[in-house]
Amino acid sequence: MSQSRVNGLEVLIEEVEIRQRVAQMARRIEADYRGREPHFVGVLKGAAIFHADLVRELTLPLTMDFLSVSSYGAAMASVGPLTLDKDLEDDIEGKHVILVEDIVDSGRTAAFLFRWLPERKPASLRLCALLSKPSRRQFPARPDYVGFDVPDRFVVGYGLDYNQMYRNLPYIAALRESSAAHLEHAATFEP
Ligand code: PRP
Repeated sequence: MSQSRVNGLEVLIEEVEIRQRVAQMARRIEADYRGREPHFVGVLKGAAIFHADLVRELTLPLTMDFLSVSSYGAAMASVGPLTLDKDLEDDIEGKHVILVEDIVDSGRTAAFLFRWLPERKPASLRLCALLSKPSRRQFPARPDYVGFDVPDRFVVGYGLDYNQMYRNLPYIAALRESSAAHLEHAATFEP
């Protein structure tokens, strides 16, 4: 049953569409990784929901881990340096790592991780993102698996937050303009 709608949000991707797309992505990953045991690394917190649903769709033998990065500066803007808040618990040397993101926006987080993770010598490294905002890309980040391209709007739900809220919504929604009027900093980027 769908969770009731929230005032100020416009649903962009329904729960059933997400479920179907996650299953399609799982089938592609299974085809690509047949005979191997991929290691799924979720980028907290946003990817937690997608990561959990994706791995449960997969019939491959697999392992999983999580990491967390954060930036200082405005909470919703891509400014300030990135720091590693939570490191991996498992050694990834020789493993086929699939980095799982809820969204690739400017690409800064993914680009940072794709510079850093290869130092740990994984056998391979790919990026799987439920959402991508190609129009916002500022850094070289190209997801190998993408669920949906989304427009340049502030999106929440299915792991994505606004001030830590809405992560539990089962659908993807955009803040309506009236709700987003005070979020003018969100669209700015200072390299
Ligand atoms: C979000 C999202 C990605 C990143 C994408 O994380 O989960 O990790 O931003 O943006 P980028 O492509 O511009 O780097 P956020 O820092 O908001 O933390 P959260 O996952 O805890 O919500």
